[in-house]
Amino acid sequence: MPQFRHAMLVDVAHDERSRQDFTAAFKSHLSSNVAAGTKLAYERRAKPTFARTAGRAPQDRHEVRRILSADSYYQAASSLKRTAQELMWDSVGDCVERQLDRLVARAKTMRGRKGSLRTDPKLVVPRYHSAVDIHCMPGGYHGEIARDDVYAGALYDRGIYLFSMGLRGELNDDFGQSLVAWTKRTFPDFRPKRILDMGCSVGHGTLPWVDGYPKAEVHAFDIGAPMVRYAHARAVALGKTVHYSQQNAERTDFPDAHFDLVVSQIIIHETSRQALPRILRECHRLLKPGGIMLHMDGVDWANLDPYDAFVPDWDTYFNNEPFIGPMHDLDLPALAVEAGFARKNVIFTSATSARRDRENQGRRELTSGDFGNVGAFMVFGAVK
Ligand SMILES: C[S@@+](CC[C@H](N)C(=O)[O-])C[C@H]1O[C@@H](n2cnc3c(N)ncnc32)[C@H](O)[C@@H]1O
Repeated sequence: MPQFRHAMLVDVAHDERSRQDFTAAFKSHLSSNVAAGTKLAYERRAKPTFARTAGRAPQDRHEVRRILSADSYYQAASSLKRTAQELMWDSVGDCVERQLDRLVARAKTMRGRKGSLRTDPKLVVPRYHSAVDIHCMPGGYHGEIARDDVYAGALYDRGIYLFSMGLRGELNDDFGQSLVAWTKRTFPDFRPKRILDMGCSVGHGTLPWVDGYPKAEVHAFDIGAPMVRYAHARAVALGKTVHYSQQNAERTDFPDAHFDLVVSQIIIHETSRQALPRILRECHRLLKPGGIMLHMDGVDWANLDPYDAFVPDWDTYFNNEPFIGPMHDLDLPALAVEAGFARKNVIFTSATSARRDRENQGRRELTSGDFGNVGAFMVFGAVK
């Protein structure tokens, strides 16, 4: 599926396209053919060897990782996967740098046309973002290389499309579409007047809320200034009205009880053990009584067998996503209760992919693997 061309998307020249196509094909080869070899190495070599000495099969993803880490096939497959990830960002980064001045200028022309944009030069980027280039993305979400920079946003918009091999749809919005569809199914009478999307990046997951609840005022923020500058320009280019700001989800500047619905899509695994409880408390503060908090992330690993949980845990160790594994070990419902929500109002379930639902015409399917290739997502939240 080709990516939808909007006015902020980078132009990809012939040789750039060939490099990007190569990285997408390389990633696809690794996640299908080469990954199948890792499974064989596990089933035929590592697991029987472990069982001979331990007298049992590996019990969790940590044991699977420990035994496969010594396997030369897995070492090679893992190294190639890391290389593919770096190649992917490089193949988009050059292309964005070449046209950065034009993208910055174009984003400026979008200001004041629809919605709004606020950045905060004094905002301190928390260590869980400044200490690593998250998922090997150079500069992370907040790094800036130009005045009024949109580099990270442009890099993310194109890069995430290649990363997910187009499986999140032409607007990279399957997470948002899926959560909106789940919310409408689960709360059919809910009519939010004000919606907040936390950690919006470039707005892939924000715009489905604009379409899903056209009467609502939609706000979205991110820790990265280049993200919200790009997000605002992208929304205007796509004819959508969103109020974007640069803020930290741990403490925002919105008044108490300001929102009917607070959502996040694939951000909580990119925070930290200390930050997540603060973010949940902030959600509680921001919601009106009866308001709803919803956080969508990848598949819930608790329901996967040890090998299937080991596969996405690769990101914890080799893709600069140090909190993804630890997050899956947390008792999220208990954290919601600590944040002030009543236990009976906590939500912990899964939502099927809207794109998969359309393609399967209702047939339910669950697979693990890359974020881009899952049939169902974890939904965690609560009603205040
Ligand atoms: C994987 S992206 C999610 C993108 C978006 N929600 C979507 O559905 O496409 C995670 C985003 O969360 C943001 N983020 C992480 N921690 C944050 C925090 N404490 N405050 C604000 N934004 C944060 C990051 O900057 C990043 O843009």
